[in-house]
Amino acid sequence: MRTLREIPLLREALDEFRQRGQRIALVPTMGNLHEGHLALVAEARRRGDVVVATIFVNPLQFGANEDLDAYPRTLADDQAKLEAAGADLLFAPETTAVYPRGLAAQTRVCVPEVSEGLCGGDRPGHFDGVATIVTMLFNLVQPDVACFGEKDYQQLAVIRRMVNDLHLPVEIVGVPIVRAEDGLALSSRNGYLDAAQRDAAPSLYHTLCTLRDALEAGDEVAPALDDGLARLREAGFTPDYLELRDADLGAVTATTRDAVLLAAARLGPTRLIDNLSLTLP
Ligand code: PAJ
Repeated sequence: MRTLREIPLLREALDEFRQRGQRIALVPTMGNLHEGHLALVAEARRRGDVVVATIFVNPLQFGANEDLDAYPRTLADDQAKLEAAGADLLFAPETTAVYPRGLAAQTRVCVPEVSEGLCGGDRPGHFDGVATIVTMLFNLVQPDVACFGEKDYQQLAVIRRMVNDLHLPVEIVGVPIVRAEDGLALSSRNGYLDAAQRDAAPSLYHTLCTLRDALEAGDEVAPALDDGLARLREAGFTPDYLELRDADLGAVTATTRDAVLLAAARLGPTRLIDNLSLTLP
């Protein structure tokens, strides 16, 4: 696996793939890779002839008080994992190569409606930053297909909407959440948890499972969500949101069947997110 840090070198390497008629599958990441990321690489291998992974901790999607500086940077480990998982090329640019004019002057992509509320409500500008870097990566790599995790459900919805609205010629594939044995969704941010917090963390998923069972059995939504919030608080979480939406993140109506529970909750300073799909009766 080759690692490239410069845009012209990336373009050269991609030209070679394209001249050979190879189908390019893209896996964008911010690094500190775990089995969740590697599931995307495995899916990309099934979907393409060559797999291009990217590692870039994108400052444009971090708020002023967020963990940009503390975000774990583990390039050598990540390279070994990507190589073992069968990635062909890693693009890991410097910030100055991506945003040569700085962040304030950067042209942005904004995806209304689906970016609002949920994580978009708690993290203003976050999804503009995501949509902008993903558009840029799509333009740089021009992949046939790109894989994203269902772990970041709203992010996946934002990217699907953006691709649709802008008629971008790339197929978007969602990959199911990879979890630890106790149910906790794998995340680079799990590394911030101390031992007691790590013990408490799976109750985010378990609360979603309990809620799903109740809602699928026909329980009323508002009291079920209140009960879920109480469970999260009992487990030591400070919830940011716990919501039921339809599968496209619209409001649930009397005719909604395919729905999703979405939660964000903090353990100390660490913000965890999770979601669970369900079928309403
Ligand atoms: P990052 O948090 O590194 O995640 C990269 C990809 O891995 C995302 O598509 C995310 O949904 C997926 N992923 C993370 N944990 C997962 C898990 N437990 N199971 C399945 N997939 C998982 O998401 C980002 O980076 C950035 O916002 C990015 C899209 C790269 C733009 O900067």
